[in-house]
Amino acid sequence: MRDPSKLWLDKNENTDPALSAVVTKVMRSLPSEAYYTYPDSASLYAKLADILELFPEQLVLTAGSDGAIRAVFEAYISPGDVVLHTNPTFAMYGVYSCMYGAKAVTLDYRPSNNGPLLLSAEIIKAIAQERPKLVCLPNPDSPTGTFYPIRELELIMRAAQRVGALILIDEAYFPFHAESCIAWTRRFDHLVVARSTGKAWGLAGLRIGYAAASPEVAKILHKVRPMYEVNTVAVHAFQRMLDYAGDMMDSVKRLQAGKDLFLSEMERLGYRTLKGQGNFMHVAFGEQAAKVHAALEPLVYYRKDFNEPCLKGFSRFSATTPDLFKPIIQRISEVS
Ligand SMILES: Cc1ncc(COP(=O)(O)O)c(C=O)c1O
Repeated sequence: MRDPSKLWLDKNENTDPALSAVVTKVMRSLPSEAYYTYPDSASLYAKLADILELFPEQLVLTAGSDGAIRAVFEAYISPGDVVLHTNPTFAMYGVYSCMYGAKAVTLDYRPSNNGPLLLSAEIIKAIAQERPKLVCLPNPDSPTGTFYPIRELELIMRAAQRVGALILIDEAYFPFHAESCIAWTRRFDHLVVARSTGKAWGLAGLRIGYAAASPEVAKILHKVRPMYEVNTVAVHAFQRMLDYAGDMMDSVKRLQAGKDLFLSEMERLGYRTLKGQGNFMHVAFGEQAAKVHAALEPLVYYRKDFNEPCLKGFSRFSATTPDLFKPIIQRISEVS
């Protein structure tokens, strides 16, 4: 259990108090049917489809975006199939490759002056060589924070199409990174886009996310869903939260302001930083690392270091508001 008196910046959750207040208000407004009835998610499908300008038949609600990722593996991957994914990336890509007996081919990010580096051309080449059944690519990726501009993403997607691979583009960090390829699901039937509510929406604990794809692919994903794909509380809460998209966007802006403040203060203190495109960022405390970690211990949870060469020596902090960052900045300044 994490200590509630510390700040939780270790799992890329949304710790913005103003958004939490909106979520709490919504949760308190739920009718008692949200608890005593089995889920009926038809109206959430319709509302979400309307917002995304897709057909409801293109969507699959899942237990977090992790549920969408798992559904793709369950529906498409048989033992021995090749799955191509980046490294490091969201840990469940490796876990599900293992669980479903896939042969995982991983493409490593290299260290560079600008942080982890993997060229889109290298991914395209690997797709052509390995002819995978599935390509998994979070955009932006985690924990690297790296992203491919939409033009390059399109080239990667078309490379997957050429070899008959399905490509899963994981947009867990939308709209921290606002560019999306969800509209492509209207035109391509080898693409799945996974979306989370755990980051921008501040609903990590509710376990609701979704996959968007062509109606044909969504139908295949629906085949592996449990009796009820998501719980009734999550259905009611997310449906109501969709009316508060403005509050969600305001929260994204606050977290981005917090991120900018933290990064500029760390740079002022002489530390190397990586901004990245997610709701998180990296700081290398160098020779001060042991002192800084000791000073922050009573205040905040964060990821202290990485084993992978591309992020070795960097600590990762999830974004929070400028106000919540201030005591952390203060503490780091005192020991720097
Ligand atoms: C890239 C990426 N995808 C998916 C997830 C899973 O998110 P959730 O299942 O909470 O929607 C995460 C969580 O950290 C992530 O970083």
